[in-house]
Amino acid sequence: MASSLCLHLQASSHLRCIAAAKPAAPSMVATANKILSKRPFLRNFSLPSGSSADLCERQPLRSSELVALEYADLNLSHKMVEDLGHVRIRQHVNPLSSSFSVPTPAPNWDEVFRDPTLPLMVDIGSGSGRFLLWLAKRHPESRNFLGLEIRQKLVKRAGIWVKELGFSNVHFMFANATISFKQIISSYPGPLILVSILCPDPHFKKRHHKRRVLQKPLVESIVDSLMPGGQVFIQSDVLEVAADMRLWFDSEAHILEHINKIDKSVLCDKDGWLLNNPMGIRTEREIHAESEGANIYRRMYSKVHLTKEE
Ligand SMILES: C[S@@+](CC[C@H](N)C(=O)[O-])C[C@H]1O[C@@H](n2cnc3c(N)ncnc32)[C@H](O)[C@@H]1O
Repeated sequence: MASSLCLHLQASSHLRCIAAAKPAAPSMVATANKILSKRPFLRNFSLPSGSSADLCERQPLRSSELVALEYADLNLSHKMVEDLGHVRIRQHVNPLSSSFSVPTPAPNWDEVFRDPTLPLMVDIGSGSGRFLLWLAKRHPESRNFLGLEIRQKLVKRAGIWVKELGFSNVHFMFANATISFKQIISSYPGPLILVSILCPDPHFKKRHHKRRVLQKPLVESIVDSLMPGGQVFIQSDVLEVAADMRLWFDSEAHILEHINKIDKSVLCDKDGWLLNNPMGIRTEREIHAESEGANIYRRMYSKVHLTKEE
């Protein structure tokens, strides 16, 4: 999986170079289309043959265009934005404010998933939801996906997309994950196989660190709830935030192992950050950050299988 993603990232930066080049040979559009055709999730997106001038004269693709390109095969409509008002990505919400202090109850799992016994992946701070929708499309029969998101409008829009796509293995719910994760997940009938926290809001000021989504009780709930062999995937484009999350999970070394210890083919840099994104798709924040030249810091842990004596 890591190597396929590596290809994907190379293709993506190649595409950006192509789009940025000027003047460009006409073959560039063909090359871009070739790259796109090699990326199954972009198969519905192709550059029209007459667009070479367009492609060559324009500035590098904006990151919102890169997002649209990366998620083109979901073919998401935007009409609901009118119903919801403008879905603007506000800087950060304050999860400590009283409006977010009431834990969200678990849903009726039979109502939200066709088969609520399937292994579950939870994405904490799921943002627009495109990332989980993309994964849900690829695992229609074998996995359920749950997005926990504190911004109601994003949850509502993602819910509309789920309905439009007719998916029955993905659900988005409003929740302050820091205080609601345990209550929500404890009643899920199937095993929890993966929890991701991807590019969480950084809350840079030291006095605001307590607003960060990952706090000790959430770490403990995640570790407790995962099935043996279940995984935690974290990433951030902000080193300090990634290091903070890493510290939490590294300190659970008695029960969590970093995956390069288990699978020697997984490569890390000298500081222990994964060299590649293991998911096969980038999140929106990841695309934005990489388009601005940022590095992404990633770790992936696996819960150890305890023997009977332990
Ligand atoms: C920077 S965005 C990243 C979104 C997505 N994971 C990505 O990588 O594109 C962080 C998301 O986490 C959400 N969030 C922040 N605090 C949260 C909390 N306590 N519970 C649930 N979601 C939260 C924000 O509303 C926002 O959508």
